Amino acid sequence: MTDTYDVAVIGGGPAGYVAAIRSAQLGMKTAVIESRGTLGGTCLNVGCIPSKALLQSSEVFHQAKHKVEGLGITYENLSFDIKKIHAHKDKVVKELVDGVAYLMKKNKIKYFNGLGTLLGSQKIAIKGEDNAEISAKHIVIATGSAPIEIPTAKFDHKDVVDSTGALNFAKVPKHLVVIGGGVIGLELGSVWARLGAKVSVIEAADTILPMMDKDVIRTMKKTLGKEGLEFHEKTMFKSLEKKPRSIKVVCEKAGETIELSCDKMLVAVGRRAYTDGLGLENVGLVAEKNGKIKVDHKFQTAVPGIYAVGDVIDGPMLAHKAEEEGVACMELIAGKAGHVNYNAVPNVVYTWPEVASVGLTEQECKSNGMEVNIGKFPFTANGRAKCMAETDGFVKIIADKRTDSIVGAHIVGPSASELIGELAVGVEFSASAEDIARSVHAHPTLAEVVKEAALGVDKRSLHS
Ligand code: NAI
Repeated sequence: MTDTYDVAVIGGGPAGYVAAIRSAQLGMKTAVIESRGTLGGTCLNVGCIPSKALLQSSEVFHQAKHKVEGLGITYENLSFDIKKIHAHKDKVVKELVDGVAYLMKKNKIKYFNGLGTLLGSQKIAIKGEDNAEISAKHIVIATGSAPIEIPTAKFDHKDVVDSTGALNFAKVPKHLVVIGGGVIGLELGSVWARLGAKVSVIEAADTILPMMDKDVIRTMKKTLGKEGLEFHEKTMFKSLEKKPRSIKVVCEKAGETIELSCDKMLVAVGRRAYTDGLGLENVGLVAEKNGKIKVDHKFQTAVPGIYAVGDVIDGPMLAHKAEEEGVACMELIAGKAGHVNYNAVPNVVYTWPEVASVGLTEQECKSNGMEVNIGKFPFTANGRAKCMAETDGFVKIIADKRTDSIVGAHIVGPSASELIGELAVGVEFSASAEDIARSVHAHPTLAEVVKEAALGVDKRSLHS
């Protein structure tokens, strides 16, 4: 006899496992199906979490090497052990994925370890460690995304790697060439540059981080340049040639050929929606040209009863966006008012200094014909940043000229990923710049830079 569920979620990443928890909280009998062998998806296993562990270790090493002398600290023979750095990363990942398995048990969610394939609008086959056929009134596709492979740079998962491979180099590369100056390229490029690799980033667009605010890009190029990253912009990767001890990377810039020689190459040119083996065709679903599954405002696909959330649908491929969609989708299934405010989704690049933003860039406001007031305040004028010797960067707040509502905020600087929280809440609550400017911020804190930028929208910053 087949087991029957109210909700079956295919995919146990941030979209899927969070959806399953919310579903169970709402009293629905829930199953989650995952083929990786561990829960947590790309984010916990081979994405956000392991990369942040490496960023943390490499940042502390880099700070100790280049910055702590300014704080009055000296040391002898600073070094690192790459095996121990990987061990720290692997321990964090294990604790978190085990934690998700615990949450499934705690919420009485049935976890199937295997590949889920749609057999019908209410039927799923599971093959793998667990083999079963189940039925569910509602099926949620949360199968995520996978790295895009360039035909002329096939992954060998040793020297030519995707983001997963670049998390696991057994020793620091001598020269790492990164194809793609996006989020992954810069984060993982930073890790290995801080640990001593020469890092060259090849970016086809006019600039690295092409979607970011122009002021942010300018500052990032300068600070990452200081960290040792070298940028080749307006440069298209063409091909590679493997030699006995190196890789020849061939690129093209303004009609001219550029060649680089390296020992490792990371290809980070974006991710594609992942629906391999899912059996979309069995239920009459066709993925869009970019591989994504089309859904309506209630996350419902073209097949009634089948929903999709996370990287597999439109929008930025971000774990927190995926989680919110998982929650909202379940609330809608349960007849409640689930909703995701896409204008208030923060975006973070975990380099150092970090980059964080929410809402529109100044350039987007201009091209939308929106008149804005802008306040900008540097970390150089902030007491806490000075004490930390971390004064690179700024906070920039963009407000609608008519209403003073915050429509965008951009931060480059220490702890930008934490500081953006206040501004994301501001956008969610339709706060004006004046609301932030009149809120008391503790002194001395980095958050005072946010307040000063908000004051700057009305040209009345106090400390500049
Ligand atoms: P991305 O889309 O951020 O950047 C890829 C870059 O590669 C683009 O700038 C593009 O112009 C460039 N490119 C494409 N083809 C090229 C070629 N042949 N030669 C040279 N340059 C080329 O993609 P990325 O970095 O792979 O990240 C994938 C996804 O994962 C993104 O959606 C990102 O938001 C998400 N992610 C988010 C993180 C975060 O929130 N901190 C961390 C890691 C990933």
